[in-house]
Amino acid sequence: MAPVSRITVIGTGYLGATHAACMAELGYEVLGVDVDPDKAAMLQAGTLPFYEPGLEDLLAPHLASGRLRFTTSAEEAAAFGDVHFLCVGTPQRKGEFAADTSYLDAAVDALAPHLDRPCLVVGKSTVPVGTAARLATRIAERAPVGEAAELAWNPEFLREGHAIGDTLHPDRLVVGVRSETAEATLREVYAPLIAEGVPFLVTDFATSELVKVSANAFLSTKISFINAMAEVCEAAGADVTQLSQALSYDPRIGGQFLNAGLGFGGGCLPKDIRAFMARAGELGVDQALTFLREVDAINMRRRFKMVDLARDACGGGFLGRRVAVLGAAFKPESDDIRDSPALNVAAQVQLQGGDVTVYDPKAVDNARKMYPGLAYADSAFGAAAGAHVVLHLTEWREFREIDPAALGEVVAERRVVDGRNALDADRWRAAGWTYRALGRP
Ligand code: UGA
Repeated sequence: MAPVSRITVIGTGYLGATHAACMAELGYEVLGVDVDPDKAAMLQAGTLPFYEPGLEDLLAPHLASGRLRFTTSAEEAAAFGDVHFLCVGTPQRKGEFAADTSYLDAAVDALAPHLDRPCLVVGKSTVPVGTAARLATRIAERAPVGEAAELAWNPEFLREGHAIGDTLHPDRLVVGVRSETAEATLREVYAPLIAEGVPFLVTDFATSELVKVSANAFLSTKISFINAMAEVCEAAGADVTQLSQALSYDPRIGGQFLNAGLGFGGGCLPKDIRAFMARAGELGVDQALTFLREVDAINMRRRFKMVDLARDACGGGFLGRRVAVLGAAFKPESDDIRDSPALNVAAQVQLQGGDVTVYDPKAVDNARKMYPGLAYADSAFGAAAGAHVVLHLTEWREFREIDPAALGEVVAERRVVDGRNALDADRWRAAGWTYRALGRP
């Protein structure tokens, strides 16, 4: 293959849009491709269809210089790119645990018939192991250039809210390849990062696919481990935040992903552990991953426990009680509400008769679309006005910085339940609040 100068990025969600902007930042000419004309037009105009800190600022100069463009045409993409990154979603199938890889199939089916010169197609989506091998055949069968349209797999580990930093300064690069040409091409693409010392691991297809899902399985397990300890702490009268802090000093354990609270949500961890279990079942090794059922169950139990604490704070029932919910996004620095623990709790409280008002710094518009029956406010104080209990469910900095004395002036009763163990309990108590939290006395 000739030296890489032009890259396409197919699928422009938070992964693809970030990857496109970061590839432009590394100096490549980049064409972003999306089947949704509205999304492509928005991005071309420099507006993000979602919130990601710093990304609009990164897009702007590259759009202005023309180094980065967006289109809906797969034909244009095939003609443009030396390397084509596949960044489309692999959501959970409706009513099943397995991942839906049909968007990948569709992307390949749109692109491959136009691939008439040697190129590298690079999958970044999170997939069931075996998908890359299947897609490699699919591409070679459909491309006029045949097997000279090669596939590689290069899983993405970025976190929403930290997408740019995680892309430009990743912990590692993992590439699953079948040829030295594919490896050399990816070494060239990522040369600026490799030069900075980012580890570059070369594997087969299956291992590269598994690295991603096992990383997410491990992170989910770590969160559910500490949340299981929170359950024990609640029964024993112990404090999970102190327990977690003490554990974190052991370098073999470490403190990251050891924050007990409402647990994990979002578009990745929950669906990835379920898809991983489904795939293990297909491979005949379901027993290897049955522990992930428990990880999932512990995670979901935290949401019910949160509702129980909120009900207790309301005197045993929600009827006639006003409940302020601070947070709708699945985590701070994001407007993503997919499988959001906060909204799940808000909806349960409302179902049980609570009069719920939600506020989130970025996610209210998305929340309103998915949960139109909930009431929304445009500030934390607006949500809390007249409330009998305040539920802190997404740990935005804005909520940690609230003056509890001032908030106490607008509520009906000074009761707060901290679902994220992120508020300063002493400060809230000093301001006259009854403070409760998950995993603490
Ligand atoms: C996750 C992984 O962290 C990324 O490495 C991966 O690339 C990404 O999924 C993906 O597969 O695309 P993300 O879903 O953006 O990233 O968010 P995380 O920061 O991992 O948080 C996930 C959830 O866990 C959030 O709901 C968060 O509140 C929760 N969490 C996290 C805890 O409850 N406790 C913790 O200690 C840490």
